[in-house]
Amino acid sequence: MKILEDRIRRDGTVLPGDVLKVDNFLNHQIDPQLMDELGAEFARYFEDVGVTKILTVESSGIAPAVMAGLHLKVPVIFARKHKSLTLTDNLYTAKVYSYTKRVTNDISIDRRFLSTTDKVLIIDDFLANGQAVQGLLDITTAAQIPVAGVGVVIEKRFQKGHELVKAAGVPLVALASIAAFEDGQVAFSQD
Ligand code: G4P
Ligand code: NA
Ligand code: NA
Repeated sequence: MKILEDRIRRDGTVLPGDVLKVDNFLNHQIDPQLMDELGAEFARYFEDVGVTKILTVESSGIAPAVMAGLHLKVPVIFARKHKSLTLTDNLYTAKVYSYTKRVTNDISIDRRFLSTTDKVLIIDDFLANGQAVQGLLDITTAAQIPVAGVGVVIEKRFQKGHELVKAAGVPLVALASIAAFEDGQVAFSQD
């Protein structure tokens, strides 16, 4: 998606460890107009496949997920990473290992918000090693809910997540696909 690639070139910073810092429009300060356009683009890809709910993980997945939900006119559920006072039992949970932080966290979704008649679209900000998406896929498997696809704002094509989603047989849409970081510059993949 051209406007997103342009924005990454303009405002993204490549940090050591193959990390792209995009905190002025996605991960800290959020650009609502850009999010709206990303949501519309996700909706164009997934409008005809019967999506009834969008799933994401707090916190950075929420903005693009809500905009996709707005355009697809479906509710958005974010998996929680921390136990909430009002979220006590009756949960679907999955373990998510973070390679960058080297910790395993539980994510949870209240069972009331998912039913076997749902068909979900998974949205996230980054697809890196794919562990967050894997956790959401584990929950949909446990809940016996079909997955229409996975949509990510930015994928790092060279890390494990892309292949993981493909291997699961789930359609994958990345609005920006990074092939490599070369001398502090972003090289987008062309396919
Ligand atoms: P994974 O979700 O694909 O498995 O990624 P990984 O464990 O490697 O990364 C852990 C966290 O770092 C995730 O956010 C993920 O979105 C984020 N991340 C991975 N690669 C990049 C990158 O190149 N740039 C940026 N900005 N973030 C990256 P999280 O811990 O779930 O946090 P949040 O959603 O609360 O922000
Ligand atoms: Na995320
Ligand atoms: Na993040």
